[in-house]
Amino acid sequence: MGRVEPQLFASREDIELAVGRMASEISQQCSDGAVLVSVLKGSLPLLADLIRAVDIAVEVDFLALSRFAADSGRVRLVKDLDCDVTGREVVLVEDIVDTGLSLGYLVGELHRRSAASVAVAALLNRGARRILPIEPDYTGFEAPDEFFLGYGLDWAGRYRNLDSLFIGDPGLLADDPDAYIPMLY
Ligand code: IMP
Ligand code: MG
Repeated sequence: MGRVEPQLFASREDIELAVGRMASEISQQCSDGAVLVSVLKGSLPLLADLIRAVDIAVEVDFLALSRFAADSGRVRLVKDLDCDVTGREVVLVEDIVDTGLSLGYLVGELHRRSAASVAVAALLNRGARRILPIEPDYTGFEAPDEFFLGYGLDWAGRYRNLDSLFIGDPGLLADDPDAYIPMLY
């Protein structure tokens, strides 16, 4: 039986607490400042909240990845950074770490560009389908093996602007991507 209603996983208040904790960890580790690199588009709400919660000087930059094919593990950069990360402390900001393939590629790429350090801040860490042995340095929530929506996370572009995190049913969304719109808005 599919889930008819999305299930609340983390409220706006839960997220605020988690982001506050991540921000103080980042501030401690990167006391000389950092470049926060947002992996578009899912990490946008997290980036916006993190940069206002840290108490260090930060710069922000953006990149975007695309898979070569829907289920392929190979990724490529479709939008590159504007800044040169040589010698910089970089924190990659991700919505969710799943297989770890995107992250593995990005961490490797930033090291190739001679970043002084590369850390990862992820809202969600879902270990169930991990392929590359890679873990975020800063994690909002450990995630069960479910599909997440809201606070940046989407299904076919929908639901990113919800201020809470929900668990949805991918089977139901595959039939109708708008299925949850009447309940969530
Ligand atoms: P991976 O770690 O390389 O498998 O890539 C994870 C990416 O897939 C994330 O950055 C999201 O863009 C997307 N993704 C994975 N799981 C979910 C989910 O539960 N909801 C929405 N997007 C997801
Ligand atoms: Mg993503």
